[in-house]
Amino acid sequence: MAELVLALDVADREAALRLLDRIPGVGWVKLGSVLFTRTGPALIAELKARGHQIFLDLKWHDIPNTVQGAVAQAREVGVDMVTVHALGGAAMIAAAKAAAGDRVQVVAVTVLTSHSTAELASLLGRPTATPADEVLRLARLARQAGADGVVSSPLETALLRADLGPGALLVTPGIRSPTDPKGDQTRTATAAEAARAGSTHLVVGRPVLQAADPAAAWAGLVESIR
Ligand code: C5P
Repeated sequence: MAELVLALDVADREAALRLLDRIPGVGWVKLGSVLFTRTGPALIAELKARGHQIFLDLKWHDIPNTVQGAVAQAREVGVDMVTVHALGGAAMIAAAKAAAGDRVQVVAVTVLTSHSTAELASLLGRPTATPADEVLRLARLARQAGADGVVSSPLETALLRADLGPGALLVTPGIRSPTDPKGDQTRTATAAEAARAGSTHLVVGRPVLQAADPAAAWAGLVESIR
């Protein structure tokens, strides 16, 4: 069964803990650069002590030596999963994996979901058929370099599962029910659709964070992928 991951996209420690106090049954939590920049690793220790698994989503993209050092620090503070950019290249991904050992899973961001086809073509300096072509190319590169899996929109899950095989982690934000506001997400699917297509980790933020009853929203998601 796919894991649900609650994106702790809140401003500070108190808001994060208040939210978790309201929602029973959350296992995986995701800390991004906004919250982590505010709290640092102290909150990670606190969340670990409360029994959560930690997905540190800082999307590293730097020289291999620096990323290796960052992953080593993440491992030291008890993080379970980290993100790097596939565009950092094979040597950087391999360095991340070398530091991760078997305690930390490394997943690679392929193409940011905010990029349009035109923007991607301008970034790459050549025409690109669709973002999905680039997602697949970078996902293969990342897996060959040792990444445990990739991050992508739910619309690429089936393609990636078919191509990368059963072992790859497929981490999927952009989870929305038909009635949820999409916000800035454009490439969305429901939790059930993403899980059925082969996603292993479903990252959900605003549909829970902005719900009138976050616990009920979370319980509904759990039920939908059961
Ligand atoms: O609020 P929402 O459900 O859109 O939250 C999705 C989470 O997943 C956010 O924390 C966002 O930063 C993250 N994410 C994403 N797209 C990616 C990688 C991460 O939306 N490609």
